Amino acid sequence: MINKQLIRTIAMVIITGAASSLNLDVNAQAPLLGKSSVKAVVKAMTLEEKVKLVVGTGKEFSMDFDKDKSESEPVPVVGSTDLLVPGAAGISFPIPRLGITPMVLSDGPAGLRILPQRPDDSKTYYCTAFPVATLLASTWDTELVYNVGSAMGNEVLEYGSDVLLAPAINIHRNPLCGRNFEYYSEDPLLTGKMAAAMVKGVQSQGVGTSLKHFAANNSETYRNTSNSIISQRALREIYLEGFRIVVEEAQPWTVMTSYNLINSVYTSESFELISKILRNEWGFKGFVMTDWYGGKDVVAQMKAGNDMIMPGIPKQIEILAKAVNSGALDVKVLDKNVERILTIMLLSPRFKGYAYTDKPDLKAHAQISRQAAADGIILLKNSNNTLPLNASDRKIAAFGNASYETFSGGTGSGDVNEAYTISINQGLLNAGLEVQKTLALQYEEFINDEKAKQTKPSDPLMALLMPPPPIPDMAVDMLSVKLLAKESDLAIITVGRNAGEGGDRKNVEGDFKLSQNEFDLIKRVTSAFHAEGKKVIVVLNIGGVIETASWRDMPDAILLAWQGGQETGNSLADILTGKVNPSGKLATTFPVKYEDVPSAATFPGKVIEQENAKSTDKKEDIVTAFLNPKPIEVTYEDGIYVGYRYYGTFGIKPAYEFGFGLSYTEFEYSGLKVETPDFKGKQSVTFTIKNAGKVAGREVVQLYIAAPVSKIDKPKYELKGFAKTKTLQPGESQTITLQLTARDLSSFNTAVSSWVADAGKYDVLIAASSTDIKLNGSFNLKKSIVSDKVNPVLAPKVTINELSYK
Ligand code: BGC
Repeated sequence: MINKQLIRTIAMVIITGAASSLNLDVNAQAPLLGKSSVKAVVKAMTLEEKVKLVVGTGKEFSMDFDKDKSESEPVPVVGSTDLLVPGAAGISFPIPRLGITPMVLSDGPAGLRILPQRPDDSKTYYCTAFPVATLLASTWDTELVYNVGSAMGNEVLEYGSDVLLAPAINIHRNPLCGRNFEYYSEDPLLTGKMAAAMVKGVQSQGVGTSLKHFAANNSETYRNTSNSIISQRALREIYLEGFRIVVEEAQPWTVMTSYNLINSVYTSESFELISKILRNEWGFKGFVMTDWYGGKDVVAQMKAGNDMIMPGIPKQIEILAKAVNSGALDVKVLDKNVERILTIMLLSPRFKGYAYTDKPDLKAHAQISRQAAADGIILLKNSNNTLPLNASDRKIAAFGNASYETFSGGTGSGDVNEAYTISINQGLLNAGLEVQKTLALQYEEFINDEKAKQTKPSDPLMALLMPPPPIPDMAVDMLSVKLLAKESDLAIITVGRNAGEGGDRKNVEGDFKLSQNEFDLIKRVTSAFHAEGKKVIVVLNIGGVIETASWRDMPDAILLAWQGGQETGNSLADILTGKVNPSGKLATTFPVKYEDVPSAATFPGKVIEQENAKSTDKKEDIVTAFLNPKPIEVTYEDGIYVGYRYYGTFGIKPAYEFGFGLSYTEFEYSGLKVETPDFKGKQSVTFTIKNAGKVAGREVVQLYIAAPVSKIDKPKYELKGFAKTKTLQPGESQTITLQLTARDLSSFNTAVSSWVADAGKYDVLIAASSTDIKLNGSFNLKKSIVSDKVNPVLAPKVTINELSYK
């Protein structure tokens, strides 16, 4: 059996061997990182060492992307990550003679993603699957997200990684984006605040984060060539704002640029985006890395300030060295890239020689995951107080594949290798409820048979590019349903959905819409159970928004459970039984129909057809399509009108609005005090929330601002603050104060490249959701204020036919 020490020794032999095969001058006098200044270390580095440091060393499915070669089989690259933390996504090049250690970079947003088992090792390396980011955002609880982050960060530390490739904070522009589950919200303020808490939590453990995917990566279709064509205003207000908040409030160690282009420039090659905005305007201090194989021109990436190319291929090393030798790349630029990487490396646990245990406290983290998932579950409907369950609601008929094969999270790099997932069925049993056994057996058999028919590619790259298609929901006949209705106290129907990187969802049956089987199931179960005077609860175990308007009238209650990580079933049972009172609210709108979505017509973009583009399911063709995707343009004609900004302004009624969520208790809002009638640089807003119901609970309160009419478009209202009360006992109150700054009143005015607050009357709306306004106040701004003047960069190269209310 190879033990860990031996694996590390082999790694060091390979690393040192690699150094000598490069003819590095192993010089005892050389300055050592940490002992000498970073600048002195950079000065002592050879050109070869510098270019190797800025190019990563590969990952388990590293490929030699040499397009001239006919075969594109995985090629092991020097210093494979497998020797340090198997399953990590990448590693930086170590240079022992200068004390430069490798840095291990691992996914991802819902928990650390490494291989749970290792050859010749009987130990396991499971990680905790935490709830997906959309669920975390639905808690509106920054303290909770900080705690999740610190548990996640602890696993990063104890399993020997240095940087977690998370959080991912792209905006939910369209419900069909395949990666929405990894992202927080349609609103940049909520996104920014929650992700800042995540970064602080993870980094509190002495490990780093990588804020991704910077920026405007809002679809997955042909993601490597997707050109996001966006106005400067929409970029600033919607797509960059969340990143700004996180960078300014939490200073992530690293930022990961995205695959796409913005206004025809790859983000990883954009000096304007990386150097002017991220570094100069926002004061980012860390280093920037590419997304895996992202961008095209490595020299441009270095010049833009994208310091590290991940996961790195040998050819890029060659190109960079040649560019320096020919003068195409100033070595001073490269030195700066290296300096930024080394500055962060000094903080990393591997550099500090941290003796990781491979034994994080998985039990404690499972509890954190369970609580977080319960706090992000949203009660969408609760007719006649169906929930929480009564003492007489004991025997449950659980329908729907996902009651048994419950989704803990999405697919791709956002997936976690957890030890177990508590299914909804198991969660019910754990809570002491009874489930219909024969029905459970039928479902389990059906799912096993369907799974046996699926073939999973053994090649990890192929597995990532081609996740198995979803198992269609089992059809249950009316006769069986009627029988079950007689024998059970109530029914639960779980609707499940899954998606992941590399592809977007479709507005079709079985995806955005319910499949016919699912629709029929809800119809049959509700009619049979209602005929017996029994209730039906629909549970949504989904990673992204689905259509609800056509069926939501049928069940008595609807719980949006999202994908709650490994404890999903237990968290759901906590809500069903009333152990936890639901307090989640929507971080993203549920429209009535897909066609109502403001980006429906422009998502996922217009493919620019290439001649001879092959499209078959042969491995070569799939890999070729991955390496040479068709160019695609996504024109963000919806501009700033994303999510509730659109529905509210244009008067389109959604199925469930942004900020919506019910509770088992009721809250009263009172006593709004707006500090000063005239805005004087800042404004505080105070109000009181009282639990006016019969059970303890927490309320998410939202502050929206309606700005005065202006020369430029203004959304009807925008979220400018939020808070979550502590647990309020019946009759208990809490007074909340929220602060507003001049920036909160401002819109981005492209003509002057500034954030401007126009003079006039500002309405302050204290609300339980984006349409449920509880308290109204206002104040005046006598003279307009320029709160921030910024670089006039990232201009679109074409005219955009942008949506306008004017
Ligand atoms: C994803 C990133 C991820 C990286 C490393 C890419 O395909 O887009 O989010 O961090 O792989 O696994």
